[in-house]
Amino acid sequence: MCRKEVPMYPILHKKILNPTVIQMDILAPLVAKKAQAGQFIILRTDADGERIPLTVADYDRDAGTVRIIFQKVGATTAKLAAMNEGDALHDFAGPLGRATETEGLRKAAVIGGGVGCAIAYPVAKKLHESGCEVHAVVGFRNRDLVILEDDFRAVSDRYVLMSDDGSAGEKGLVTDALRRLIESGENYDEVIAIGPLVMMKFVSALTKEYGIKTVVSMNPVMIDGTGMCGGCRLTVGGKTKFACVDGPEFDGHEVDFDEAMKRGAMYREFERHAHEKTCNLLKTEEN
Ligand SMILES: Cc1cc2nc3c(=O)[nH]c(=O)nc-3n(C[C@H](O)[C@H](O)[C@H](O)COP(=O)(O)OP(=O)(O)OC[C@H]3O[C@@H](n4cnc5c(N)ncnc54)[C@H](O)[C@@H]3O)c2cc1C
Ligand code: FES
Repeated sequence: MCRKEVPMYPILHKKILNPTVIQMDILAPLVAKKAQAGQFIILRTDADGERIPLTVADYDRDAGTVRIIFQKVGATTAKLAAMNEGDALHDFAGPLGRATETEGLRKAAVIGGGVGCAIAYPVAKKLHESGCEVHAVVGFRNRDLVILEDDFRAVSDRYVLMSDDGSAGEKGLVTDALRRLIESGENYDEVIAIGPLVMMKFVSALTKEYGIKTVVSMNPVMIDGTGMCGGCRLTVGGKTKFACVDGPEFDGHEVDFDEAMKRGAMYREFERHAHEKTCNLLKTEEN
């Protein structure tokens, strides 16, 4: 019997944000209706595709669209990046995970690193909309990689841009800027840090010195996204937690970052092979 493919989730708009980061608006009214900052979706580009989790970067409930922002890092994100307006995704399941808690926060620092800014931006926006004073501190390797500058500025009372080589904003790490802000007397109710594991580890170590509550967003490898497979497990406060259902946000002072980094490294070799296989397949098709 022949299986009929039904295009379910059309790509309405595609924008290249930097050489490896792409933004897409997907028509997914049921997800758009319920999505909140901090949550994510799991998509498949086609029926045989791998399931990958991506954060809800924004949504428009009236238009029924959900925005995703992703970095091309391997086979599936490369396949997604090659899709265009008018193409459709096979699956777009969500919203998954717990929403960011913003209640009672009057002043917060939102720290974003690289593509982690795509995840940090909706958090900054939600805080701003709830009346919280937002200080955004974002870091990139260089000017060419800067994303969402105007978006962050629109929802932040202070915006500090850092780059490793000084080609954008100030030269230095986000932790340098955060320490300076704290030392200058800024009193934050909470710091929310989203980016590479190593960045979140050092932000958490810094805020621990000052006793400031810190939330991080953990992105371990996820498979089913329902708490069944155990793929996304982490140790938080000495207990096993599943990022897909208990998170993805956790208390940064409780997360075992070293274990999370070791587990992340375990998958890298496997994924390199998957990427090479896809590239070879594409080469064969082209020839
Ligand atoms: C809750 C959550 C939210 C995320 N949000 C974003 C986002 O908004 N933008 C973005 O660019 N990336 C996000 N990621 C990471 C994104 O899922 C991975 O980059 C993507 O799955 C890579 O797939 P790939 O096949 O292209 O790369 P691969 O070559 O398969 O892997 C490259 C790297 O991506 C990560 N990865 C691979 N497969 C998975 C998986 N199934 N689950 C999680 N991580 C994986 C691993 O760290 C791996 O080393 C998020 C991850 C999680 C868990
Ligand atoms: S992805 Fe399977 S338990 Fe979280």
